[in-house]
Amino acid sequence: NKIVLAYSGGLDTSAIIPWLKENYGCEVVAFVANVGQDPADLEGVEKKAMQSGASECHVVDLREEFIREYVYPVLQTGALYEGTYLLGTSMARPIIAKAQVEVALKVGADALCHGATGKGNDQVRFESTYAALAPQLKVIAPWREWDLRSREALLDYLKQRDIPTTASLEKIYSRDENAWHISTEGGVLESPANAANQDCWVWTVDPLEAPDQPEEVTLTVEKGKVVAVNGERLSPFQALEKLNVLGAKHGVGRIDIVENRLVGMKSRGCYETPGGTIMVNALRAVEQLVLDRDSFKWREQLGLEMSYVVYDGRWFTPIRKALQASAESLAEELNGEVVIRLYKGHATAIKKKSDNSLYSEEFATFGEDDVYDHSHAEGFIRLYSLSSRIRALKQQ
Ligand code: ARG
Ligand code: SIN
Repeated sequence: NKIVLAYSGGLDTSAIIPWLKENYGCEVVAFVANVGQDPADLEGVEKKAMQSGASECHVVDLREEFIREYVYPVLQTGALYEGTYLLGTSMARPIIAKAQVEVALKVGADALCHGATGKGNDQVRFESTYAALAPQLKVIAPWREWDLRSREALLDYLKQRDIPTTASLEKIYSRDENAWHISTEGGVLESPANAANQDCWVWTVDPLEAPDQPEEVTLTVEKGKVVAVNGERLSPFQALEKLNVLGAKHGVGRIDIVENRLVGMKSRGCYETPGGTIMVNALRAVEQLVLDRDSFKWREQLGLEMSYVVYDGRWFTPIRKALQASAESLAEELNGEVVIRLYKGHATAIKKKSDNSLYSEEFATFGEDDVYDHSHAEGFIRLYSLSSRIRALKQQ
């Protein structure tokens, strides 16, 4: 029998390979997802997996698919978990787990394994995907079984087996990185009373140290998707890459939050989503011009629902598809061009236009107009407030 492991090359999943072989007496196939993490983490990852005892290693490039099929549709719904979190880790888990299942089916494996702990959200996201796509496969989560409780124990475990590792004792933070974001948890962040250190932030410069000169970037939006940056048409992943560089330079997209995990506990994290934050602000600007009041309100509700569906690992479900379809329908007219000013941590939409704009200067002007009759408002307000009037008259 064969197990396919979602392998990253880090310490935990390196120890999982020999552990699986010893405890399940089986062949281990390593699966590595390229979702746009630091290329240094992918370099030599196959060799590393084989040195740890894997029989095969499959590296799959998911970068374009991740942004096009997971990130962009979620952006159309406007989802922000608990008001701020752009769901970088949450959106990556289902695509990673899906690609892992595909490898498992290809190599005829009978089990799937991941390195998420028993305390977090990620285990739920991995295993919900496995359940939806390959219910026949067994699931193994070593963190819920083994008694290796510390970094030291993991390093010892590898040392005893002569497995080389570049991991060191003092890794302070738990990080997760992909093209969309990087998350940092643990270390000093474990007490919300502590401010984040400089070293909690990886991608973005400190807004206090960002350039004194603001920079403008123009985003072109079609059907609720960013399709060009500064007039250059780019694929979703390319657009993101470009905006990540610009955003990071100006300290855009940092959040430092305490959030509610699905499993009940609170956790503190610092998340950096520079390009994503620019995209979100540009989409919001187009929505402001194009969506009428009811449509906008519905989009807000879609976003709220979608944030829980994605955070909670319910990607491969009818409700996710339904929310996505509704947002896509609303996005039908979301075309436009937005100029974003990047300045010391801010990404502000300073100019926006759209052929589908419902904004009418003629109607909205504070100056003189000849399209609007103020006296029409009187009857509207009398009926609109009729129930208040009736209640008040009765109370008198
Ligand atoms: N708390 C965030 C989330 O649940 C980030 C999780 C980071 N995961 C990790 N394995 N370091 O989406
Ligand atoms: C983990 O527990 O493996 C990471 C954090 C999370 O999944 O929420």
